[in-house]
Amino acid sequence: MHASPLFARAVARLLCRVDEALGRPPVLDFVDLGAGRGELVTGVFAALPPGVAARTRAYAVEIAARPAGLDPRVTWRHDLPEAVTGLLFANEWLDNVPVDVAEVDHAGVPRLVLVAADGSERLGEPVTGPDADWLARWWPLPAEEGLRAEIGLPRDRAWASAVDRVAGGLAVAVDYAHTARTRPPFGTLTGFREGLGTTPVPDGSCDITAHVALDACAAAPGSAGRARALARTARGTGGTARGPAAARLLTQRAALRALDITGARPPLTLASTDPAAYVRALAGAGEAAELTAPGGLGDFGWLLQPVGIPDPLDPAPLDPDPLAPGPLDPDSPDPGAPEPPGAPR
Ligand SMILES: C[S@@+](CC[C@H](N)C(=O)[O-])C[C@H]1O[C@@H](n2cnc3c(N)ncnc32)[C@H](O)[C@@H]1O
Repeated sequence: MHASPLFARAVARLLCRVDEALGRPPVLDFVDLGAGRGELVTGVFAALPPGVAARTRAYAVEIAARPAGLDPRVTWRHDLPEAVTGLLFANEWLDNVPVDVAEVDHAGVPRLVLVAADGSERLGEPVTGPDADWLARWWPLPAEEGLRAEIGLPRDRAWASAVDRVAGGLAVAVDYAHTARTRPPFGTLTGFREGLGTTPVPDGSCDITAHVALDACAAAPGSAGRARALARTARGTGGTARGPAAARLLTQRAALRALDITGARPPLTLASTDPAAYVRALAGAGEAAELTAPGGLGDFGWLLQPVGIPDPLDPAPLDPDPLAPGPLDPDSPDPGAPEPPGAPR
């Protein structure tokens, strides 16, 4: 779905904005992190203006093997390139990074959930150390038996190390997300088999996934630190006039709107003047409506992490239901006080 032509066109547009912000470098990197079968990178190449495509060096970073017949311009790798100048785009990658699950026991203590190959669970040791610190900061669990949280620390670290490779440009993570204001009381661990939700049994029979605490990723020390350091460098060396930008979290609906993708229907007059164009525009509007649908793909989170450039989606259009109440600056106070599980949302 996400590799739909319209989505790829939006990402290509974003890459062009990053290109402009970087001053059209001789080599512009596009990295598709967790590239799956390379559909997005293929679509982005198809949508880029020829002048930009000619300067674009595209990488698909993926643990799976390179699919046969992939565009030879795409470099297929199992790890990130050392330094990226351009756009690093991670679409539904972070939800694939494994996390531990914690559950509150009868005494109110969060413990690790241990799971057997048949899916049966029992509680293990209490959560301690950095995992406990992460829970306290990002997903505090009231002392109520059965409440659960997914400990997002490995994702924060994965994201920080990905952003760390961006020497200049933008890193974007797109995923099913929640923030401190909207943590689900029992977590989101789910299995998927052939596209359908199923019990998450860790026997290789299904994909196991959990939504991403993108606000925590945004504040991951490495990513924010490097972004700020590079922003300072950009300022010090006469970088962009609009200055550096902080990490920002918005919905896919708002991000796509900022990239001029809306679900607006074409004017009816087009049907009589150019019926073929009208049908094409109608199909595009349907696709856009699906990508931006409330309660569906439109609610996905987009985490933008500019490195040494201004936020290329700024000013983003007003989002009636943003994922976070405002800009997610890691130095700013907690973006939203967590509500007790079960509180009205
Ligand atoms: C949910 S799929 C998303 C695929 C594609 N981006 C899309 O949106 O359709 C996640 C992908 O990330 C890949 N992946 C997971 N961990 C990875 C890692 N550490 N390095 C590279 N790829 C990884 C998986 O193999 C899988 O193809």
